[in-house]
Amino acid sequence: MNILAIESSCDETAAAVVQDGRTVLSSVIASQVEEHKIYGGVVPEIASRRHTEAIVGVTREALENADITLKDIDAVAVTYAPGLIGALLVGVNFAKGLSLSTGLPLIPVHHLRGHIASNYIAHKDLKPPFLCLVVSGGHSHIIMVEDYTKMKVIGKTRDDAAGEAFDKAARTMGMTYPGGIHLDEVAENGDPLAFTLPRPKVDGAPYDFSFSGLKTAVINLIHNSTQKGETLPVKDLSASFRYAVVDCLATNFIKAARELNIKTLVTAGGVSANSLLRRRLTEDCAQYGFNLYMPPKELCGDNAAMIGAQGYYEHQCGNLASFDLNACATMSIES
Ligand code: KG4
Ligand code: ZN
Repeated sequence: MNILAIESSCDETAAAVVQDGRTVLSSVIASQVEEHKIYGGVVPEIASRRHTEAIVGVTREALENADITLKDIDAVAVTYAPGLIGALLVGVNFAKGLSLSTGLPLIPVHHLRGHIASNYIAHKDLKPPFLCLVVSGGHSHIIMVEDYTKMKVIGKTRDDAAGEAFDKAARTMGMTYPGGIHLDEVAENGDPLAFTLPRPKVDGAPYDFSFSGLKTAVINLIHNSTQKGETLPVKDLSASFRYAVVDCLATNFIKAARELNIKTLVTAGGVSANSLLRRRLTEDCAQYGFNLYMPPKELCGDNAAMIGAQGYYEHQCGNLASFDLNACATMSIES
């Protein structure tokens, strides 16, 4: 089954053709990051406009790269939640138009379910059940993936997402948006023990995260030193911050897996490209005898191939949309 998938939830306009949920025939991503960089973050209005301009060309390119036409497509999948509402609407309306004009079924895909499905592309042997750490710019969740379309939230952040905390700390250190990847690179040459930073916990919710206090601690360190006319070593501060965030993520994830007795662990989302997180989970999983699956770095960020992969399993379950499908800025991964 060939699925044409569309993704426009944030600042990437993407289209892909995916066969049977596991094989990517083409994947095209038009990133707007250079334009948002000058504002230090995504400007929703600009994002929507750029999606509108890019979506036809990106979809055409995806079909051309797969060397097929719409006649060879069996269904259209689209990200409909969660994300920036104006950005999502562009993809949803485009997909509805395609579906209406071609008669192809329309498959609604939850963005985070898509991130999880990026692993089905990279790891042909991976099947639910498994425990997944989903860490992106807007979400930090521990999800029990009971089946391809049946998920339960085991833990989540109470405030900032891990990616958001990385980006805000990086911005305060003078790095350009999105700062997570730059902070990760700089941290490679720093001392993770140079600064003592908190490891916030949530009372009564051992698998939940809280990153806002950690982010504020770093911002305060920088502001206090600036007021004194001092400059902090960015490499060491980056390394200490990265160590603290990764420590919180890995500790709760491994704890959840041990207590729930799950042996297969998976990561997903932009932050799962983080070098230290990947090393730390590789070590921890080896220690406890867990199987660890992580997407290759190129599949960690937003793309449409992952939407095509999840779209296949949503279709198998009969999760199809009618033409009254609407975009939603927030939506639980369970629904
Ligand atoms: O999944 P994603 O591409 O988009 C969302 O759905 O949000 O995640 C983007 C987030 C950004 O906050 C970005 O800074 C972060 O992932 N990120 C990283 C790294 N690469 C991307 N954070 C830490 N280390 C990285 N190597
Ligand atoms: Zn994403």
